[in-house]
Amino acid sequence: MPEGGGITSLREAARGCLGCELAGPATQTVFSTGPVTARLALVGEQPGDQEDRAGAPFVGPAGRLLDRALAEVGIDRSDCYVTNAVKHFRFSQDGPRARRIHQTPEAWHVQACRPWLSAELRVLDPVLVVALGATAARALLGPAARVRRDRGRLLARPALAADPAGRTDGWLLVTVHPSSVLRAQDQAGEYAALVEDLRVAAALLSEQAG
Ligand code: URA
Repeated sequence: MPEGGGITSLREAARGCLGCELAGPATQTVFSTGPVTARLALVGEQPGDQEDRAGAPFVGPAGRLLDRALAEVGIDRSDCYVTNAVKHFRFSQDGPRARRIHQTPEAWHVQACRPWLSAELRVLDPVLVVALGATAARALLGPAARVRRDRGRLLARPALAADPAGRTDGWLLVTVHPSSVLRAQDQAGEYAALVEDLRVAAALLSEQAG
């Protein structure tokens, strides 16, 4: 873990991360996108199949839904820092040509990856972090986090690691993962609820800007 560097040096270092066994089968480390000046950081679970190939987070169907929901509340995705709790794609595969099936990361994968997330958020010091889904919520709030119970309200963001610069930890908002909207029976309802949660994020950002 490089000390005192910026996002670029973290990204470079994470390329060779062997902190858990996921690095082996994955194509590459998927670190983050977005400006280091971002006031909003979005944290997902882990890269999916398309993200693993592209090397960038949220470029597949979940990312497109997320972009649409952000746009509805007036947030431009290109203004956001976008990352994941786990930086490698975890999947199962029945043979070399078979489809790669997403597997939810275990707690120890999140634990192994947490130094990266802590370091990113320390460098960024955003006004607000939005945790997309249970894995991100638990990475940021601990194992007791529950998306359905905690979603949609501003929470104080606990320190992930001691900050030598002594900065504040800002706000945290939990919402569902966009993939869960895509899988839901009531897609329209779940999408509307995601947008409502993101409205809380947009209101905070505009209040803090003013
Ligand atoms: N799901 C995530 O949690 N992250 C991505 O980058 C893509 C899909």
